[in-house]
Amino acid sequence: MEYRRLGRSDLRVSVICLGTMTWGNVQNTEADGHQQMDYALDQGVNFWDTAEMYAVPPRQETYGRTEEIIGTWFKSRGKRDKVILASKIAGPDERFGYVRDGHLKFNRQHIRAAVDASLKRLQTDYIDLYQLHWPERSVNCFGRLLYKHQPDEVWTPFEETLEALQEQVTAGKIRHVGLSNETAWGTMSWLKLADAGRGPRMVSIQNAYNLVNRMFEVGVAEVAIREQCGLLAFSPLAMGTLSGKYLDGKKPAGARLTLFSFFDRYLSERGQAAVRAYVELARRYHLDPAQMALAWVNSRPFVTSNIIGATTMAQLKSNIASAEVTITAELEAEIENLHREHTIPCP
Ligand SMILES: NC(=O)c1ccc[n+]([C@@H]2O[C@H](COP(=O)([O-])OP(=O)(O)OC[C@H]3O[C@@H](n4cnc5c(N)ncnc54)[C@H](OP(=O)(O)O)[C@@H]3O)[C@@H](O)[C@H]2O)c1
Repeated sequence: MEYRRLGRSDLRVSVICLGTMTWGNVQNTEADGHQQMDYALDQGVNFWDTAEMYAVPPRQETYGRTEEIIGTWFKSRGKRDKVILASKIAGPDERFGYVRDGHLKFNRQHIRAAVDASLKRLQTDYIDLYQLHWPERSVNCFGRLLYKHQPDEVWTPFEETLEALQEQVTAGKIRHVGLSNETAWGTMSWLKLADAGRGPRMVSIQNAYNLVNRMFEVGVAEVAIREQCGLLAFSPLAMGTLSGKYLDGKKPAGARLTLFSFFDRYLSERGQAAVRAYVELARRYHLDPAQMALAWVNSRPFVTSNIIGATTMAQLKSNIASAEVTITAELEAEIENLHREHTIPCP
């Protein structure tokens, strides 16, 4: 397993990060989660990603459940110090009326309450990386391509959020801070404030990134490299579609996009045409399409870690093994040609 530095911190995280958001939904039980953590750690995966709002798709009944599953694993295995643990505070979303007072903000009151509740569920006294799950202001993420400026929008000043985060760092409850679903403007704004001494410096940006959604490269990738604030890539398989298993209208039993229409943005006609081209390319190179898609993410220069997700042990094993797959210069050139033909079909 390869390890990369997390931002300017002294942490070195595995290039494969263990995603957790299916644990506690209808797909994965607590026992499944525990088995995945045992196996991943054994393979050298020392970096795990969760969030207060998981399991996903989000529901009141399963809010916080994934963190609880990680918490019971820490309690039974006692290996807290072997893991670099990332979690997140939810931003505003009208569906989350059941979280705290329902008016989610990145202010001192919410950050304190969210950190304390996560620590309790996780049965630990610190979180290594605490991320803002999505900005308070509206940005292009979760399928939006067109930026619509909203001049009257208000959000907690970044300075105030940084102060509240610093308070948690000083208390030892969180070690580092990071962004998620953030833009180039947002990322630079946070970094400039930190560099001016206004609070902790963001060490990472967790955004969607995969062969059919390369939005990150349109502006943020440059920031990630120049500012040493690397990408933690989520949905690297475009929610499983890049394996090719949904092609020709197939609906595999028990699979995410069969179960939950919530995520249909990866099943568009353009998206599936691109997937077909990447799957055919992988087959020509005698590669498993999902492993090729993951290995390509692993090999991008602005990526710190690739957050994989798995609902079965077979998927988990194959996805972790992508760390051993090489994208040759020839294959990379073919992928670039396909990207020109199928540019960001699934933003
Ligand atoms: N910051 C954010 O806003 C955000 C958003 C999304 C995710 N995340 C993080 O990123 C992690 C990964 O995201 P993701 O789950 O969307 O990643 P993904 O890799 O795009 O999708 C993972 C899903 O694809 C299917 N799959 C996985 N490996 C496969 C294989 N080898 N062959 C065929 N199907 C396979 C599985 O679902 P089925 O078995 O159901 O097909 C699995 O749950 C999450 O757990 C979470 O930690 C963060």
